[in-house]
Amino acid sequence: MSDSRERPGDRPLIEAVAAGIAHEVRNPLNALQINVGILEQELAALVPDQKAHVYLVLAKISSELTSLDNFVSEFLRYARPPRLKLEAVNIRPLLNDLAMFISPECAKKGVALTLSLDAGPVVVVVDNFQLKHAVLNLVLNALQATPPGGKISLSTGGDQGQLLIVVRDTGEGITESALAHVFDVFFTMREGGTGLGLPITRRIIEEHGGTLELSTRAGAGTTATISLPTKPRA
Ligand SMILES: Nc1ncnc2c1ncn2[C@@H]1O[C@H](COP(=O)(O)OP(=O)(O)O)[C@@H](O)[C@H]1O
Ligand SMILES: [Mg+2]
Repeated sequence: MSDSRERPGDRPLIEAVAAGIAHEVRNPLNALQINVGILEQELAALVPDQKAHVYLVLAKISSELTSLDNFVSEFLRYARPPRLKLEAVNIRPLLNDLAMFISPECAKKGVALTLSLDAGPVVVVVDNFQLKHAVLNLVLNALQATPPGGKISLSTGGDQGQLLIVVRDTGEGITESALAHVFDVFFTMREGGTGLGLPITRRIIEEHGGTLELSTRAGAGTTATISLPTKPRA
C-alpha cells in the first residue's frame, strides 16, 4: 500500500485540486440535488403510488448524491482548512455540548457514553468550532468501531500548561498493519468512510501546537489522546 501521507510541498497541488473540485464537482452536484427534488415533487402528481419502483430509484440517486456531497465537503475541509479563530474557551461546556449532540446516536446503538471532565485545565485558548469538530471525529470513530453493549469514555486531564482530551472505546481496535495507515489521506476500513476524519483531526490539533496519539489493541479497543497547550504560541 502506498503512503498517502501529506508531504511538505504537496499543499499547492492539493489546493489547486480543491479549487477544481469546488467548481467542477460541487456546483453540478448541487444542481443535481435540486433537480432530483424537483423530479420528486413533479412525479407525485403523475405516480400517486408512493411504493412504485421509480421512487426507490429516486431515493437511491438522492442518497448517493448525499454521500458524494459529504465526501466533497469533507475533502474541501481537508484541502482548504479554515484559519484558526483562537479565543479563551471553557472546555467543559464544549465537551458537554458535544456529548449531548452525540448521545442519541450512542443510545440508538446501545453504546454507553460516559464523561469525566473534572480533571485538567478548564480554560484553553483554542478555535472552539474546529476543536469540537476534531473531538467529534474521534467520538464518531469510536462509536463506529464499538458494538452494542460497548463503552466510550470522554475524559480530560493534564496540568497548568497542557490539556489532555481522551476518547477511549471498547471497540474492535485497529490491527498493527492498519494502524500504520490510519493517518493517511483516504485510508478507510469502513464502508462509506472517506478516510479523511483522522487526517483532518490531526491537522486541527497540530495547528493548535498539540499532538494526537492513538493506542489500540485489536479486539480490545482504542484510546485517542489529544494533548493541547493551554495557550498556543502566537
Ligand atoms: N476508534 C477506532 N477504532 C477502530 N478503528 C478506528 C478507530 N478510529 C479510526 N479507526 C480506523 O481508521 C480508519 C480511518 O479513520 P478516519 O480517518 O476517521 O476515516 P473514516 O472514519 O472515514 O474511515 C477507519 O476506517 C478505521 O478503520
Ligand atoms: Mg472517521
